[in-house]
Amino acid sequence: MKIAFSTPELPKQGCLVVAVGEGPHFGKIVALLARRDINLKKAAATHGFKGKAGETLNLLSQGKFSRITLVGLGDAGKLTLQKMAEAGGQACGALPANRVEEVFAFIDLPEKSEAKRADFEAAFAQGFLLRSYRFDKYFTKTPKDKKPILAQLTVLSGDAKKARKRFEPMLAVAEGVFLARSLVNEPANVVYPETLANACKKLRDLDVDVQILGPAQMKALGMGSILGVARGSENPPRLVSMVYRGAGKSGGAPLAFLGKGVTFDTGGISIKPASGMEDMKYDMAGSAAVIGAMYALAVRKAKVNAVGVIGVVENMPDGKAQRPGDVVTSMSGQTIEVINTDAEGRLVLCDVITYAQHKFKPRAMVDLATLTGAIIIALGNEHAGLFCNNDDFAKQLIQAGLAVEEKLWRFPMNEAYDRQLNSDIADMKNASNDRVAGSIFGAQFLARFVEKKTPWAHLDIAGMAWARRDLPLTPKGATAFGVRLLNQLAEAFEK
Ligand code: BES
Ligand code: MN
Ligand code: ZN
Repeated sequence: MKIAFSTPELPKQGCLVVAVGEGPHFGKIVALLARRDINLKKAAATHGFKGKAGETLNLLSQGKFSRITLVGLGDAGKLTLQKMAEAGGQACGALPANRVEEVFAFIDLPEKSEAKRADFEAAFAQGFLLRSYRFDKYFTKTPKDKKPILAQLTVLSGDAKKARKRFEPMLAVAEGVFLARSLVNEPANVVYPETLANACKKLRDLDVDVQILGPAQMKALGMGSILGVARGSENPPRLVSMVYRGAGKSGGAPLAFLGKGVTFDTGGISIKPASGMEDMKYDMAGSAAVIGAMYALAVRKAKVNAVGVIGVVENMPDGKAQRPGDVVTSMSGQTIEVINTDAEGRLVLCDVITYAQHKFKPRAMVDLATLTGAIIIALGNEHAGLFCNNDDFAKQLIQAGLAVEEKLWRFPMNEAYDRQLNSDIADMKNASNDRVAGSIFGAQFLARFVEKKTPWAHLDIAGMAWARRDLPLTPKGATAFGVRLLNQLAEAFEK
């Protein structure tokens, strides 16, 4: 979809979106439409439209307009970029994409918000764009009149040049989100380790160094833990690093974004039940978020040094698959008793964490992983779990999450949990034997691979990676949770 910013003059006809604060708090738009013999106030009142955040109203055949869609901004005194983006998303969601080709949007801001108009217009456009995403390449029988035709949003802008400038980095982020969503939405016979690694190569056009390791190189580096997971699959694993140096030499050590990239998780020999197993194609959502975030940083030329490292494998059961009770040696030298082959994400990430530390000496690390079902039991689909060894870094992440509505909730970690990972035969086991605190044990396991108190955070995104219903900024399906959060975090580190 194309996004444009034009003069504030209303078009003669077509589809108009009007964003308005709670009340409804109408401003200029009422007089502008009165000249077209449209009584907007009355129409809104007739339908009980109040302008609450998320509220929409479709008014059909208004004068020469085919439709006027109202979208609420909520309290006009408390507008934020995120709220504007959500309003844009809700507006998009309220329109029939198979009936509307071009949309004009007028943001009816209260006088005192005028100073931020360009930012708000850009954010509204970004939200609209994010919601317009669709993954329909595999439908072959859609009738012509059901095919989406929505092709352009034109924001009627107070200062089009300024708004366009503000929109530039937001477009980069939206593209990063789309990239991540599409990688997650693709089925596992299309996205598997080799093809996921190949998808990273497109970042090479953006001044990102992309290095791809195959099983032989991983073996030479001693990555026995991730290789143990890969054993049961015909598709060999990959380890991909993406290096972006937007702050140059003087920018110092990079931020490291690490991702779990299990392109399909059957559970391995500790096999999962059949029902719902198809969901496990999204077990690479952590790595997709890392790819999307690296893409966004590179396209918007963020002044920050960042590396993305993802471990990409398929967790399958076959005659060569690892067995419960097997002992593997991780790249760190620590040995692991694999008591459950379905706790494979941590076996992937532990070698990624060690590799990232040895190779890049990062100033801080964030890993993203659909690590545990238990985090969904604890937090549902509202927050990702946050586990962190550093209070300041945890606060920074929570803050970044609030700014983009990718919310985090911090969990405790300590020695008492850690102790329960001790094994009778190796340095540790990969899960606790109890069915309690499953997400914390996953995090405690990873913490054993963090060296020298490097600030490290683990985001358990199992409940956030996939939406079962439409959300303001995301149609149902892959969400790309983490792309906007990592971008926001990186912004705080820009020089
Ligand atoms: N990929 C799953 C976690 C998951 C579950 C993600 C549901 C998304 C939705 C992970 O590899 C897994 O199987 N975890 C186990 C860990 C257990 C064996 C300690 C789990 O959560 O049951
Ligand atoms: Mn698993
Ligand atoms: Zn998994």
